[in-house]
Amino acid sequence: MSGKTVVRGEISVPGDKSISHRAVMFAALATGVSRVRGFLHAADTLSTAGMMRALGARVDEVSHTELRIEGRGLRALAEPADVIDAGNSGTTIRIGSGILAAQPFLSVITGDRYLRRRPMGRVIEPLTRMGASILGRDGNRLPPLCIRGGALRGIRYEMPVASAQVKSSLLLAGLYADTPVTVVEPIRSRDHTERMLAAMGAGITRDGNAVTAAQCVRLDPLDMTVPGDLSSAAFFLVLAAVTPGSSLTVSAVGVNPFRTGILDVLRRMGADVRPVGERFEGGEPVADLVVRGAQLVATRVAPEEVPGLIDEVPILCVAAAFAAGRTEIRGAGELRVKESDRIASMVACLSSLGIPCGEYPDGLWVEGPATVRHPSGPCDSRGDHRVAMSMRILGAAAAVPVDVTDVDCIDTSFPGFQSLLDGLTR
Ligand code: S3P
Repeated sequence: MSGKTVVRGEISVPGDKSISHRAVMFAALATGVSRVRGFLHAADTLSTAGMMRALGARVDEVSHTELRIEGRGLRALAEPADVIDAGNSGTTIRIGSGILAAQPFLSVITGDRYLRRRPMGRVIEPLTRMGASILGRDGNRLPPLCIRGGALRGIRYEMPVASAQVKSSLLLAGLYADTPVTVVEPIRSRDHTERMLAAMGAGITRDGNAVTAAQCVRLDPLDMTVPGDLSSAAFFLVLAAVTPGSSLTVSAVGVNPFRTGILDVLRRMGADVRPVGERFEGGEPVADLVVRGAQLVATRVAPEEVPGLIDEVPILCVAAAFAAGRTEIRGAGELRVKESDRIASMVACLSSLGIPCGEYPDGLWVEGPATVRHPSGPCDSRGDHRVAMSMRILGAAAAVPVDVTDVDCIDTSFPGFQSLLDGLTR
């Protein structure tokens, strides 16, 4: 069975979450006033804005999606008067730790009940090696984190898993260290931090999978427009891709080459996906994405592809449910420590709709084309925004009511998701 809901037209999606986080963080560290347009106004990125305000930067909302940020400079942040709340946002706490580790004061940072279950040892361990003092629950593994920053030394760090958050955290700490910090990734991950810091005047150099940050005196302010978020666009790209006759354009989406794995996989499955009018905005490649639906076929996603589509695995599972054959995704063990255990969450949701699927320790399989059982038990998002949106898309594509619980979490990354979906499928 292919999807039943034909969608046509042109939409746009909110600003990129990763780039929005970085823009507000780095602008707060710059010397001077920054303007950021197209900012993602969502719970996660507002947590980062709150963190930078707590450190003394002035962050004003000129409009819903435009920020004016008065930077404090790299070395004039203020000790936060209270515990910093990162909410649900792993990017806030992990990249933020790299900044806090370099400050000559004490910071305590925590998050919601989901974030407090997510591993922080991956930043604590290398930042401690650089000279910071960081304590956390569960033997220095879980938030809240108590960070006493100070003078840092450079290290060369071979990352055990590809992670843009860990890489970014260490590069930021490297701006303060007495000798350069080099981070070596097993597989390259999104390079928004490198692009943005270099554009702000930091000394960032790359050699293959190794990236180095040198000590920095000042960062220039930003004047930029954040591109649309490919990870948000992906939900609608899949909605169109699974139904022959659908044709959808998502305008002005960021197509950073370390984020576009989902486009390659959808093409391999038989969808016609094209970037049109490629251009640069704020140092990032941007394009309008045009997708035409088809009866998809199953595919295998190999471990080396995973970092390039890490946040798109839940929606890829939905595409797989409509595709003929067994789709397998391996080398994706990192999904177990995202906002939820996304392997377990997706297998539980798909199973509750009668879709054949199963877990591997490091991935999952989905067999299509599936018939969605109806009526069926509720799908529990487990508080995970990407799981909740994926299941809503599945219901819309199959034209079957799917009851998804705990959908408030969608606001962490994509407020307006449901009205956009309703507008297209009405
Ligand atoms: C992000 C990196 C990825 C991604 C997350 C955002 C970033 O996490 O899953 O949604 O902005 O750097 P990891 O660094 O844990 O892979």
